[in-house]
Amino acid sequence: MSIIDLEGIYTAYEGGSEPVIRDLSLMVDRGEYVVVGGPNSAGKTTLLESINGLVKITHGRASVCGLDVRRLGPEVRRRVGYVIQNFYFDPFTPFTAREVVMMGRFGRLGLLSRPKESDYDAVQRAISLVGIEDLAHKTIGTLSGGQQQKVMIAHNIAKESEVMMLDEPFSNLDFQAREFLQDVFKRMVQQGIPVLMVAHAFDGLPDIPIHLVVMNRGRIICDLSCQAEEVEEIIRDECGVEGRC
Ligand SMILES: Nc1ncnc2c1ncn2[C@@H]1O[C@H](COP(=O)(O)OP(=O)(O)O)[C@@H](O)[C@H]1O
Ligand SMILES: [Mg+2]
Repeated sequence: MSIIDLEGIYTAYEGGSEPVIRDLSLMVDRGEYVVVGGPNSAGKTTLLESINGLVKITHGRASVCGLDVRRLGPEVRRRVGYVIQNFYFDPFTPFTAREVVMMGRFGRLGLLSRPKESDYDAVQRAISLVGIEDLAHKTIGTLSGGQQQKVMIAHNIAKESEVMMLDEPFSNLDFQAREFLQDVFKRMVQQGIPVLMVAHAFDGLPDIPIHLVVMNRGRIICDLSCQAEEVEEIIRDECGVEGRC
């Protein structure tokens, strides 16, 4: 069974009169690296939020990690890592980066248990993997946008999710940091964890087969397998020079 299996789904936001996603089907298997592209407002973020049950699926069938998303959203969210787009921590948020990474363990721990040795180990591993040892003791709200993105990536790695979803996670990072983190995701994929990444810049993609999904107006207009260096051209062909479909 595919780890993500969407069949003919429609999703609508609270109070929205029109469905944002229309008749969308998608299958993702273990060990796939999925790049989601398409113009602004195409529905890319809404697709990720449909997968983890954050928006209402009004029609169709959605199964993630073998769970029915329409009934078991909270359990799906415990199993799926999700780095959201354009988040921002208030400068006075009273947590250090290390504490924010530890919060990635709370789904396993429950809020009232003390972290165990294995939780501290997972947090330390995530911090070194992402290369943020020097930020760990700093207050999250005092970090730059790019540093906060790295902390949230480490938070989701510490979660040891079965699926990793990232929504434009590199928007504030330079090429070197992007390339470094892409290598981290490549290794996750090689360990069997599927990665779904919404992206705008396609340089520095890992040299592994890419499952490319292009969206426009709430639908998938292109769903194929290709090489990293073909991604940009396919999206340009599908969407035109301006990146508009
Ligand atoms: N919370 C919301 N409530 C109502 N409509 C929304 C909400 N978020 C997004 N939309 C609408 O859904 C459509 C798809 O948005 P989104 O998924 O954010 O696109 P993308 O991530 O591709 O830029 C847009 O038309 C947007 O205006
Ligand atoms: Mg978006």
